[in-house]
Amino acid sequence: MSTTSTISKESQSAAPRKKMTVPNFTARKGGEPLVCLTAYTAHVAHLVDAQADMILVGDSLGMVIHGMPNTLGVTMEHMIMHGQAVMRGAEKSLVVVDMPFGSFEESPEVAFRNASRIIKETGCTAIKLEGGREMAPTIRHLAARGIPVMAHIGLMPQQMNTAGGFKAVRDEDVWEDVIADAKAVEAAGAFSVVVEGVAEKLADKITRNVGIPTIGIGASAQCDGQILVFEDMIGLFPRVPTFVKRYGNMEEMMIDAISRYAGEVRDRSFPADEHTYKAKKS
Ligand code: KIV
Repeated sequence: MSTTSTISKESQSAAPRKKMTVPNFTARKGGEPLVCLTAYTAHVAHLVDAQADMILVGDSLGMVIHGMPNTLGVTMEHMIMHGQAVMRGAEKSLVVVDMPFGSFEESPEVAFRNASRIIKETGCTAIKLEGGREMAPTIRHLAARGIPVMAHIGLMPQQMNTAGGFKAVRDEDVWEDVIADAKAVEAAGAFSVVVEGVAEKLADKITRNVGIPTIGIGASAQCDGQILVFEDMIGLFPRVPTFVKRYGNMEEMMIDAISRYAGEVRDRSFPADEHTYKAKKS
């Protein structure tokens, strides 16, 4: 079993890649689609790093790792601990850490204090925060003080209580508001924007209306890049929205491994000879 300090830094991809910077990420607007995934542990970050342009330490970790019903209970300490783990495994990808609910809404000053703490204590490059026009002054404050901000508009999981759940944005009546959010976060200095849970036509309009990369989740192929939650993508989380494609079924593999282990412990076929230390003559 490898520990975080023994993680190999060899890339699994053929072509060597340079470390992704914020300007290089933004320059991919309209170009080759940006590959983004979440990660919460060092080894998963190492595996994802071989392919991804950006790794997000998302506050979805509250749900997929810590078993919370939503993301509202996630704390700064959760984000920093998982951010540190991911930074030990990632080498080339841009690492972005989410600001948890309650850590940035109060004022630009509070947001700066918490965002700078995340950057200092994890070594990540940028932070992400949920919000559109109402967060523009905060984004401007952070970006002007050396903190790259990825915004997050459309379906905002941290606003689930006011929205009445995780509601996709499909109703054409509110499209202009979401487009205004996208323009506002760009004008405030966000280097990119996550667009979650919106109708394809709206994703297309947003992408064509801003000069920063749009990263879609449940927002169609019209975005400049895509992101999924790692556990959803590999089939390790039971409830997934319709927009998730499962590229594996890790849950099945784990259930099988656990039950074979339990059987072999019970019938004493594990540990076998090859797993057993023999006495050494001194
Ligand atoms: O927390 C998260 O994983 C996210 C993604 C859904 C974009 O914000």
